[in-house]
Amino acid sequence: MAGYPTVRPRRLRRTPAMRRLVVETHVEPSNLILPMFVKEGLTEPRPISSLPGVVQHSRESLRKAAAEAAHAGIGGIMLFGVPTTRDETGSAGIDPDGILNVAIRDVVAEVGDATVIMSDLCLDEFTSHGHCGLLTPDGAVDNDATLAAYASMAVAQAAAGAHVLGPSGMMDGQVGVVRRALDEAGYTDVAQLAYAVKYASAFYGPFREAVESALVGDRKTYQQDPGNVRESLREVALDIAEGADMVMVKPALPYLDVLTKVAEAVDVPVAAYQVSGEYAMVEAAAANGWLDRDRVILETLTSIRRAGAQLILTYWAMDAARLLRA
Ligand code: PBG
Repeated sequence: MAGYPTVRPRRLRRTPAMRRLVVETHVEPSNLILPMFVKEGLTEPRPISSLPGVVQHSRESLRKAAAEAAHAGIGGIMLFGVPTTRDETGSAGIDPDGILNVAIRDVVAEVGDATVIMSDLCLDEFTSHGHCGLLTPDGAVDNDATLAAYASMAVAQAAAGAHVLGPSGMMDGQVGVVRRALDEAGYTDVAQLAYAVKYASAFYGPFREAVESALVGDRKTYQQDPGNVRESLREVALDIAEGADMVMVKPALPYLDVLTKVAEAVDVPVAAYQVSGEYAMVEAAAANGWLDRDRVILETLTSIRRAGAQLILTYWAMDAARLLRA
């Protein structure tokens, strides 16, 4: 029938130039934050088998990789430390000579303000039991005792020069206690990217290898149940009231609905963490020839941006920056 259909969405998909003209969502290297691991005592970077392409850095290789990240124009880096010794209280996380604090200083010396230097603020990498906080004598995670430890950790990380701290332990009141400690110590300009919405997710599996986590059991008494979304809005409201400068949803792809609701509800920048399991799934499928890796990477990042994240923590930050420039 001539003249039918008169409305043809395909008109705007006809050429690459036309598609580029009307695309609604852009991903830029500046939206991406690269999580990086640094292990105490290493002289060479060491591969992480469940995260192919990701390594535990030595101090030296971390400096170099941080400089490359800054040069690639990615938005920031998020540092995680892997200590050689752990104790009940995670004291190596607070010690100015602990691996994470030393690495922050290294990276600050290397790249300065050329990219945003963030550090994970949590005890799980430093405790012998692998929990994100201190334990009571009967083995429960003690919220308020943990807050005091986070306050000390925050001051140590700020003193080392981090621009942004990422409290990720899901203790109630953590953002407020960190803000107060930073302000009292004179670090009023150090910001917090709060892991406001963090689910008790099976997608963190490979991360546990990356930080050699000692955890037995799970984190269900402090991380959120995957079935909840209204609770997430409560968590972000609390964190913003306590002084969070940015809020994060984690994991990313299985929680896009949560991300959208959070982005609609708040007026601070929203980040999403594309976690280790999300990365590992795609890498494993691509290694089998089952997926076009590069296209899948860009599609997932686009989807996370479309759902409402301004910033994305992703182990593909450097690959994606290269693909976006191509
Ligand atoms: C806690 C922390 C975790 C991740 C980031 N920060 C682990 C956990 O909560 O069990 C997971 C990140 C990933 O899986 O990529 N410090």
